[in-house]
Amino acid sequence: MNILVIGSGGREHTIAWKLSQSKRCKNLYIAPGNAGTEKVAQNVNIGVSDFEGLKNLIIEKNISLVIVGPEAPLVDGIRPYLLSDNRLKELKIVGPGKEGAMLEGSKDYAKQFMVKHGIPTAGSKTFTKETLSDAKEYLKIVKMPIVLKADGLAAGKGVIICQNLKTATATIDKMLAKAMFGDASKMVVIEEFLSGIELSVFVLTDGNSYKVLPEAKDYKPIGENNTGPNTGGMGSVSPVNFAQGDFLKKVEDSIIIPTINGLKSDNIDYLGFIFIGLMNVKGEPYVIEYNVRMGDPETQVVIPRIKSDLVELMVATTTGTLSEVELEIDDKTASAVVMVAGGYPEKYEKGDSIHGLDLEVDGTVIFHAGTKKSEGNIFTNGGRVLAVTGIGNSMQESLDKSYGLVSKIYWDNVYFRKDIGHDLMTLA
Ligand code: AMP
Ligand code: GLY
Repeated sequence: MNILVIGSGGREHTIAWKLSQSKRCKNLYIAPGNAGTEKVAQNVNIGVSDFEGLKNLIIEKNISLVIVGPEAPLVDGIRPYLLSDNRLKELKIVGPGKEGAMLEGSKDYAKQFMVKHGIPTAGSKTFTKETLSDAKEYLKIVKMPIVLKADGLAAGKGVIICQNLKTATATIDKMLAKAMFGDASKMVVIEEFLSGIELSVFVLTDGNSYKVLPEAKDYKPIGENNTGPNTGGMGSVSPVNFAQGDFLKKVEDSIIIPTINGLKSDNIDYLGFIFIGLMNVKGEPYVIEYNVRMGDPETQVVIPRIKSDLVELMVATTTGTLSEVELEIDDKTASAVVMVAGGYPEKYEKGDSIHGLDLEVDGTVIFHAGTKKSEGNIFTNGGRVLAVTGIGNSMQESLDKSYGLVSKIYWDNVYFRKDIGHDLMTLA
């Protein structure tokens, strides 16, 4: 079948890499893709928000399966947009409709959903510009630190943890009265601070049954030992050794099953990935956030651990037959080290020539994100440039593989964290 992946990051490169290995994949397109996706798919220069352009491509290329990588097109309703065209009634789309996508598109909506369905999460209250003075009064009675979350999509930047009343008051003022995150902070969720270790669990659902994919941990801050500003993600590992057995069973019983049942009982059209950000608080899982797509760079360690045919899983997701498909997981460890342009997540240069990309090392895969090809050479074209995934029989072996290859790839001003996975090795 002909397949389209929408997006241009490391997540989409990984999904396309895996789809391309399937016998069922005939022509694979990616819009817009990057310099790495060209090796496994045909890049088509159409942006993720150009719904009309994407629709025309789907019709022209006779595409029957679409996988939507990032959240923005889902929140903006790409699913209902495509399905409303008579010619695309049979199109299989992995990704929820507009209401389902609100689980990520509105933190307040997600909170209401969790409270309604008894899913463990931090206590919270939501405020708007009109109730700003109530918000300030509320801040006086809550325990510090406190978490302020812009309700809408804010490119991963909308969460601010405040250590004291003074900064919390100033921050809520900026968010609500001064539109710090534009429309995204028209509403703000004030949420109790949870202390624990974070991890992410990924679920694939066809709206009825579900499969739990490998869990992962990502490393968000730019600096080693989790210091400095947050990024989209500087690395990831899977499996997560502190979250096995009993803990994962608790996640399934108290979070995954009530989430799937809640979507059904609320008549929410949901099929696709659910990415559940969790905090392990003394052995008890709490939901920090829902995302309605895979994580980046978590995908770069989750997908390589899936042995089953991804096309088959994607088709089953869209045809309500997921329960009939077997999900086989590799028990090896995968780790991904993200290489970024120096300066990221603040100001950084683009257009540096990347060296060492042709190296092929057993047990490693290079997934591209911000890269661009020009006259046969590959150049940096974004903050997060590459992720190098290593696969091994232990965390140490997988890290040795990723870092071994990372050390051979370079460009001017390359930066990467040297401590991915280290915290988990000391916990083991
Ligand atoms: P989010 O965008 O919701 O993933 O939040 C970004 C980051 O903020 C998370 O990955 C956590 O590290 C942190 N965070 C969010 N909510 C909480 C919370 N209630 N308690 C502690 N940390 C949190
Ligand atoms: N790595 C976090 C995310 O994809 O949202």
